[in-house]
Amino acid sequence: MLAFLGGTGPEGRGLALRLALAGEEVVIGSRDAVRAQGVAEELSQLAPSARITGAENSAAAASADVIFLTVPYEGQRPLLEQVRENLTGKVVVNVIAPMRFERGLGAIAVAVEAGSAAQEAQELAPDSLVVSAFQNVSAEELTHPDVVMQGDVVVCSNHREAKDLVMDLTRKIPDLRAVDGGGLINSKYVEQITPLLVSINRIYKIHAGIRIVGIDS
Ligand SMILES: NC(=O)c1ccc[n+]([C@@H]2O[C@H](COP(=O)([O-])OP(=O)(O)OC[C@H]3O[C@@H](n4cnc5c(N)ncnc54)[C@H](OP(=O)(O)O)[C@@H]3O)[C@@H](O)[C@H]2O)c1
Repeated sequence: MLAFLGGTGPEGRGLALRLALAGEEVVIGSRDAVRAQGVAEELSQLAPSARITGAENSAAAASADVIFLTVPYEGQRPLLEQVRENLTGKVVVNVIAPMRFERGLGAIAVAVEAGSAAQEAQELAPDSLVVSAFQNVSAEELTHPDVVMQGDVVVCSNHREAKDLVMDLTRKIPDLRAVDGGGLINSKYVEQITPLLVSINRIYKIHAGIRIVGIDS
């Protein structure tokens, strides 16, 4: 079972939909159980044979083996303080790209004392296995199941088996490619590409992603 905390937003919704279409059982998490159930029903209409439910964030985390964090960065600390007892020994996939929007400048990366949102999450939930992934994948593309995805998902973690599991999940979304990005220390580079992509999206009116060249697969 995969849980998407903050899965009522576009990024969590899109990832949940794609992975549900790939056969995974998913639960949408929200601060409001009714909102989560509403989104689960909407997604079920797009994927009628998929198993999609909704629950309040803590209940969603408790029921799942793999927990995706898909809230804005400002929500990460309070969310992890609330749910951390439900994360022990579990894989936590951090999709969060810390950024803010400034008039005249657009999207700007927010500095994180721990180094990155993913490293901070590992500090806040030390008994979980944090994996950083999907920060450079457009929600807009994910939420339209007819769109064939393009590009790479750089996956970083200090936990080998957890990283392999998330790389396998990535490969279930056609045609995304999983790239091993090394340890969690590298997550900051991946997270900081996202505000750049937001700026490129505005300039070219597209939904940009990234591609690492030179890998034969
Ligand atoms: N959007 C994209 O294209 C994209 C691409 C790559 C990565 N990301 C990253 O993915 C994450 C989610 O993106 P998004 O666009 O889906 O975000 P969002 O719509 O702003 O937020 C997602 C959900 O998080 C919950 N939330 C909002 N503020 C919160 C808070 N302070 N504390 C706890 N929960 C809160 C809300 O759910 P409830 O009100 O139902 O609890 C909301 O529906 C972000 O960190 C973003 O950087 C986004």
